[in-house]
Amino acid sequence: MTSIKTDFLIIGSGIAGLTFALKTAKFGNVALVTKKEIMDSNTFQAQGGIASVFGKLDSFDFHIQDTLASGDGLCNRDVVEMVVKNGPDRIRELIDLGVHFNLKISGSSVSESSGIEPDLDLGREGGHSQKRIVHAHDMTGKEVESVLVEHVKNNPRIQLFENHIAIDLITISTRMTRGLITTTHEDYCCGAYVLDRKTNRVKTFCAKITLLATGGAGKVYLYTSNPDIATGDGIAMAYRAGATVANLEFVQFHPTCLYHPEAKNFLISEALRGEGAVLMDAWGNPFMERYDAQKDLACRDVVARAIDTELKKSGTDSVFLDISHKNSDFIKERFPNLYEKCLSFGFDMTKEPLPVVPAAHYMCGGIATDMHGKTDLQRLYAVGETACTGLHGANRLASNSLIEALVYSHMAAQQAVRDIETLDFSLAPDPPAWDEVGTTDSDEVIMVSQNWDEIRRFMWNYVGIVRSNKRLERAKRRIEIIQQEIRDYYWDFKVSADLIELRNIAMVAELIIKCARHRKESRGLHYNLEFPYRDDKRWRKDTVLRRSFLG
Ligand code: SIN
Repeated sequence: MTSIKTDFLIIGSGIAGLTFALKTAKFGNVALVTKKEIMDSNTFQAQGGIASVFGKLDSFDFHIQDTLASGDGLCNRDVVEMVVKNGPDRIRELIDLGVHFNLKISGSSVSESSGIEPDLDLGREGGHSQKRIVHAHDMTGKEVESVLVEHVKNNPRIQLFENHIAIDLITISTRMTRGLITTTHEDYCCGAYVLDRKTNRVKTFCAKITLLATGGAGKVYLYTSNPDIATGDGIAMAYRAGATVANLEFVQFHPTCLYHPEAKNFLISEALRGEGAVLMDAWGNPFMERYDAQKDLACRDVVARAIDTELKKSGTDSVFLDISHKNSDFIKERFPNLYEKCLSFGFDMTKEPLPVVPAAHYMCGGIATDMHGKTDLQRLYAVGETACTGLHGANRLASNSLIEALVYSHMAAQQAVRDIETLDFSLAPDPPAWDEVGTTDSDEVIMVSQNWDEIRRFMWNYVGIVRSNKRLERAKRRIEIIQQEIRDYYWDFKVSADLIELRNIAMVAELIIKCARHRKESRGLHYNLEFPYRDDKRWRKDTVLRRSFLG
């Protein structure tokens, strides 16, 4: 049984995990665990960019107001102010590391480390009153991720574990029989059990500080813009270990993913609408003016619901997004990746509208944290999409996710370093070894794929953009049966990556359903036909869940 001891254990290799790794490696040893290759992350896919105040006509106040308005009454104002005001410094740090963002001058993109304020080219997206999206063409995530990865790989204090998938967190009171974890209030996190996918062996990682930076959970839904890794692992592990999770009913559906059988819900960035693209029905009629005064640049919840209504009304498979009225050279220069990708599916966006549909995109809820990314399970931090910091409220403002990850990984790293210097780590006993006594290799892999498909389909149909009491009730009944099957199977067979992910998406689905059934109003991304209005008197509060323990 392999055991690895480290100061900082980081699970996840997107912008949050990588930034935290680089900042903490100055003060201790870091083990960075990622379940596939290091570049396989939600960050890598991010097209639009990073929202931050650089424009001459913009102000912190404007960005704060836009974020609060999008969050529909549930944002934590202190958090919003902290993220918005820290944003520009964190972006300057990226530029100093070598990230190339687009500059205004002739559309070129050079990195600046001279201390001179770069004249950034700023895009616009839904819900933003100003141009404030810092971007690297339409491949911002790829640019940021590649630079951070290069720094991480060259850092001798960071040990990288690719193709390692975390199974469960270890807490000091872990009574370990394959993930049966009991926790008390004095409990704390001391690492994780991790499956090495190449050898199929479970390793024990013992850490002073553990960070969950595992990204989103789009794979809980049948249609999602997210990559395959987005299975809500952090939320599921944290909840099982006893940390509080919150606001999981607020699942953001991106309004525009390419509708094509082979496109796997390829995202068509909101930046397109920021540059003038218009949504139209199958007959070429623009429709957003009937739904919101901001038309195509309304907040995402409004646009996604409008498309859902149009699709149900017309019975068509998709609506259309048209930017072909813009100069074709401009389109190719501003959106080179989108242009090429759409062309490969047979659509020339300089000449014709693109067929688009909404898909699950971003989890606004997650593991509850304080302003330093600390969860309520001691020594456990959570940053990025897996966390619920209070920034997004009931609906995330476009491009506010990467800035949140940057600011919070900075705050969390500072706090974690303080923890390392002040907490007493001498008494932590060695965690019990991973126990697979009595398990055999699976003879029923079909159970895993069947339940994967079933969960994703009923979550899409019953817990999607428009919900109702009846649909949520049906979803609850189904998840209960599936959870029982997974539990039975889990005890009998050796763990595999597929089983670990199934267990996690089932857990997250159950938590989303619980939160959605609890909230008896419609707000932000949560829309229930039986409670169509926002009810501030009773529901202007977070939905908070914590696992109750028997032992
Ligand atoms: C997009 O490019 O439309 C996605 C940006 C985001 O989700 O913030």
